Amino acid sequence: MTSGQVAVSRAQLAWLTELGIDRKLLASIADTTSLFTVPPAPAIAPAARAGLKPGAALAPTRGSAPASDQAAAPARVSPTSRPIPPDAQPAQVIPVVRQPLPDNLTALAESVAQCQACGLHAVRHQTVFGDGVAQAPDWMVIGEVPGDHDDHLGLPFQGKAGELLNHMLVAAGILPSATLFYTNLLKCRPKGARAPKPEEIEACLPFLRQQIALVRPAGLLVLGWQAAQALLGQRASLDRLRGQVHRYHDAGLDIPLVVTHHPASLMLRGHFKAAAWQDLHLARQALLSLP
Ligand code: URA
Repeated sequence: MTSGQVAVSRAQLAWLTELGIDRKLLASIADTTSLFTVPPAPAIAPAARAGLKPGAALAPTRGSAPASDQAAAPARVSPTSRPIPPDAQPAQVIPVVRQPLPDNLTALAESVAQCQACGLHAVRHQTVFGDGVAQAPDWMVIGEVPGDHDDHLGLPFQGKAGELLNHMLVAAGILPSATLFYTNLLKCRPKGARAPKPEEIEACLPFLRQQIALVRPAGLLVLGWQAAQALLGQRASLDRLRGQVHRYHDAGLDIPLVVTHHPASLMLRGHFKAAAWQDLHLARQALLSLP
């Protein structure tokens, strides 16, 4: 490779081509060379996902994205039928409800599995607590609600949105090197894949906050406006929330937090993919610049 050239993996190339990002644009972004000098990787190394099924032991493992995603992340994914709430839709600022929650992850997962704080317990197949590196990962990736597959398997991001998420993380150079823990704003899937209601978010948010306090990720990557508004307590549109590095303050923590488009939203609105790529690039830079 000569000076000025960059090497991209097949997954990265597929993503970047889809975005319409050419080498000129790449060159205009700082640290592009280090981002794209990773050796081509046809597939991510098999992940050691923690498999945090409710009630199961939460052994800390190194892991990244779903094994199924890694094996067969397609260049394109077709839209799902899941309705995505408009990014600019205003949402209520949710007060944080403090409960005495367990101070270890295994017990917290059990509390989630037993939870009946809102009506979703009656329609879930399984709670979806989280999965991945459960001790101080580089990133906690926070989605909105479990998908259909996730609800049956008890694991997050098992479907098409997870495939696209994995693709995005590889394209941005976050995977395969970073360690990740995946979870959601809600731990139960609303029936009919509807958006979460404010009272459901209010009931579930303490679990997420406690998860963050116990997992202690270096950074938070938040997908979609609902999770972002809930965690930041800001009634702002996704457009206002993305494109910057926020700070998450809770339980004595001060963690960089980056918001971007939800992958399910990107499946319906492909023109936001370039912005999502920029957000992930920003996230990667934010972590690199940590002392
Ligand atoms: N699956 C998840 O676990 N979370 C999402 O936000 C979407 C799909």
